[in-house]
Amino acid sequence: MSDDRSDLVERYRRDGFTVVRQMLTPDEVEEYGAAARRLLDEADVTREGLPSATVLELVRDCQLKDPAMRRLALHPRIARVAQELAGQPLRLFKQELVRKRRNDSLPTGPHTDESAYPFEAAPVSLNVWVALVDVPLERGCLSFLAGSHLLPSSNGREYALGEDPAVRWPGSRWLPIVTVPLRAGDCTFHDARTIHMAEANDTDETRLSVIATYMDHRATYSPTGNPYMDDLIEAPGIAPGRPLDGWRFPLLDGSDRLEE
Ligand code: NI
Repeated sequence: MSDDRSDLVERYRRDGFTVVRQMLTPDEVEEYGAAARRLLDEADVTREGLPSATVLELVRDCQLKDPAMRRLALHPRIARVAQELAGQPLRLFKQELVRKRRNDSLPTGPHTDESAYPFEAAPVSLNVWVALVDVPLERGCLSFLAGSHLLPSSNGREYALGEDPAVRWPGSRWLPIVTVPLRAGDCTFHDARTIHMAEANDTDETRLSVIATYMDHRATYSPTGNPYMDDLIEAPGIAPGRPLDGWRFPLLDGSDRLEE
């Protein structure tokens, strides 16, 4: 690991997130951007928000719907950094293509990601958020509460999107809020326990990003009661308590898919 890389790991462990500039080349941004736009035209798009306004729209499990998206989810450079940050082998849990358009978009309220996951969260899970277009502040870039991943977890599963984090974790009001504008091809990695949020998109260009979730390679299935999350696991026939593995949840080091 180079010094730059160990610095990256150190910052990630301290802050609960980190930025990697130009993770994707301009050619890759074009390739994955084209695949993303195609998929948004063709696949089921889920809208999240209030009846009157949208927070964002997404294509769930896009790694199962488009080969380019699966390549991006298992991208060797992203996979290497994710495992260095986690300090252990990881598997792909899921991938979502996210669109946040102008006008109908609201800010994404503060939340953690871990509370939604159908595996025992204690080990490790993290997200990579890849920008496929430039995402300045006014297009809805992410902000993170630095160090919030270290706050004591008080039954994270009940932590709702938009709930004021200062109510759940009084200490969080004293943490720095770090806003991270990204250029196309840049990405952030964040611990699933890190509190984060985003502005609305107030520009004419659609915000387009892809989020992949990586989990501890030993993660086992623990139902959440959330039909989307549970169906996602149960579809391939995995029972509660069983390991999340196989083609559906591949190892990031590729050692379980040499045949692909
Ligand atoms: Ni999130």
